[in-house]
Amino acid sequence: MVITGAGSGIGAAMAEALAGRGARLLLNDLDSAAVAAVAGRIGAEYLAGDVTNPADVGRLVDAATASMGGIDLFCANAGVALPGSLDPDVFETSWHVNVMSHVHAARALLPGWLAAGRGRFLATVSAAGLLTMPGNAPYSVTKHAALGFAEWLRITYAHRGITVQALCPQGVRTPMLERADPRSAAVLTEGSITAEDVATAVLTGLAGNEFLILPHPEVGGRAARRGTDRDGWLAAMNRAQQRLEAAFPDPAVPDPAVPEGSAR
Ligand SMILES: NC(=O)c1ccc[n+]([C@@H]2O[C@H](COP(=O)([O-])OP(=O)(O)OC[C@H]3O[C@@H](n4cnc5c(N)ncnc54)[C@H](O)[C@@H]3O)[C@@H](O)[C@H]2O)c1
Repeated sequence: MVITGAGSGIGAAMAEALAGRGARLLLNDLDSAAVAAVAGRIGAEYLAGDVTNPADVGRLVDAATASMGGIDLFCANAGVALPGSLDPDVFETSWHVNVMSHVHAARALLPGWLAAGRGRFLATVSAAGLLTMPGNAPYSVTKHAALGFAEWLRITYAHRGITVQALCPQGVRTPMLERADPRSAAVLTEGSITAEDVATAVLTGLAGNEFLILPHPEVGGRAARRGTDRDGWLAAMNRAQQRLEAAFPDPAVPDPAVPEGSAR
């Protein structure tokens, strides 16, 4: 099994949970010291690298295949939530980390998986990919894209033995949440759970084949409402946005579309 972004948060918790079930793991992270520490703690192998770089992803897949004889599960978990809703550079970076890394992984994995007639791909998406993330356009858009790619993979390869699943938590108390601006932190903190809770939901989800793994079950109801009453859902989300603006009138990272000094 391979887990990307395993040096912290959800990836580290999934690694610990899977290792506790006896899994052999190769962990990846951009942060070499962090992933080495997690791997050392649970007796896993690790290979630091950047999931936005196809060569690094190829090396990860090759190393796991060589040391474990194959990859039964690939967890594409590394992700970023960067501030700057209308900043093209933030869109660019978010696109590469949150979406293209999954494409690079699929390209590296599929030849071996299709030849073997089996393989499992778990994409860490987010509730933001099913709903949206108030205050963060690049995160919302790229998580929607990651979910779309996971759906496409499942549709295209399910009959050839490939299982694709999408993990869509809402707020999880990890360093990502700790770095969030006050508005995002308020959204994520309400109803937040621990990374260990997410890992428990993942173990249950991996035992089955359902596409969506929802550690926050209420996300399913919200997605259903979005599907059946889009205008009502959008109006409710706009009211939530207005409540956030009232509660946090000075976001740490101002929306670049709002001229300085203008009233919100
Ligand atoms: N924390 C939340 O509230 C929350 C909610 C829903 C989904 N998620 C998703 O869960 C995943 C993990 O998030 P987390 O909360 O554990 O965050 P985190 O910041 O604690 O951990 C993310 C890890 O990914 C690594 N990483 C970032 N870019 C990388 C790259 N290019 N190559 C390799 N590694 C890279 C980081 O170094 C870090 O160790 C992300 O995809 C995130 O979007 C998080």
